[in-house]
Amino acid sequence: MKEYVISVIRGDGIGPEVVAGCSTVLHNAASAASLKLEFVDAPAGDETGRLKGKALPDSTIETITHSDACLKGPVGKSAADVIVRLRQELDLYANVRPAKSLPGVRCLDAGVDMVIVRENTEDLYKGLEIEFDGGVLALRSITAKASERISRFAFELSRSRAGKKSVVCVHKNNVLRKSDGLFVGTFYKVAGEFQDVKAEDMLVDSAAMNFIRKPSEFDVVVTTNLYGDILSDETAQVVGGLGLTPSANIGEKYAIFEPVHGSAPDIAGTGTANPTAIILSASMMLDWLSRSRKDSDCLRASEMIRKAVHRTLADGVKTRDLGGSAGTSDFAAAVSSRLEIPS
Ligand code: NAI
Ligand code: MG
Repeated sequence: MKEYVISVIRGDGIGPEVVAGCSTVLHNAASAASLKLEFVDAPAGDETGRLKGKALPDSTIETITHSDACLKGPVGKSAADVIVRLRQELDLYANVRPAKSLPGVRCLDAGVDMVIVRENTEDLYKGLEIEFDGGVLALRSITAKASERISRFAFELSRSRAGKKSVVCVHKNNVLRKSDGLFVGTFYKVAGEFQDVKAEDMLVDSAAMNFIRKPSEFDVVVTTNLYGDILSDETAQVVGGLGLTPSANIGEKYAIFEPVHGSAPDIAGTGTANPTAIILSASMMLDWLSRSRKDSDCLRASEMIRKAVHRTLADGVKTRDLGGSAGTSDFAAAVSSRLEIPS
């Protein structure tokens, strides 16, 4: 039986609630797939900052780097000090954000199956803000190296998917001629290596419209950090809302899996948050472990979870954000009860 250490950031607001629901599902799926998962607490976020004086203690980074993968609940106001820092320090350069229509969930178009691949280490998120008399200068960094590796990641992802074999590069090079100019130019250079995948580009404002107008026409979208952050909340809504969409922060050595959504302070403590986004993030984590550790049991567990979520939603078990009445733990229990070992 393979054993994996999973570091867990429980986070703030609805974080601990959705993490608890997800842990039950993960535990049940792992034992059904003959895997052993050891969960190790990796404290981070607003509450950790209050208790320890630092939202991201060094010991937490160490716990993450000594684990096989990290599952993260959302944090609150300290997001820039926690997840933005972790992405840069651990060089988790690819932020993978799928948006897929789910059975029984009201959405804009039942045929959506797209993934935003967001560059995760640079752009305005370097946090280089310089105050001057009467204003602030925010510096945006775009490099050929980061643009090249994120483009390659996007093409490889599209090639591996059953979808349309297309990558759309989203940018604003009509205004940001040099920075987004470099991003798009590098994208097309990499496109030359992937003749089997269609390469196109689109202005970010036009992309924002087209994600509503014809979302099912997209396969993989690659973009810079800020646009990817904003557009992935939009694509979440296109398929039914932020309670549903998972994400992966992937680097060469480490990976962190978390929902796209934040700590939702408006519903924290009510037990009503939708844990689907983090449960699907856990499924992505097992899929990544299956590929990086060449372990088919992880793939079985990953698929088991994904299918159980689909069955649960198709059966009409829904949390409040989707018009239902199931609480966070009810929903997680319903998913657990639908885990089926693939034959
Ligand atoms: P949010 O994503 O927390 O909430 C936006 C809306 O979606 C709210 O109405 C919320 O109730 C709803 N929502 C989100 N997740 C839900 C779920 N699982 N089930 C049901 N409803 C859900 O975004 P907001 O309010 O802009 O940010 C709140 C805090 O989260 C901020 O302090 C922000 O810094 C932090 N944040 C942290 C992130 C991270 O840890 N990666 C990512 C995004 C925001
Ligand atoms: Mg965001």
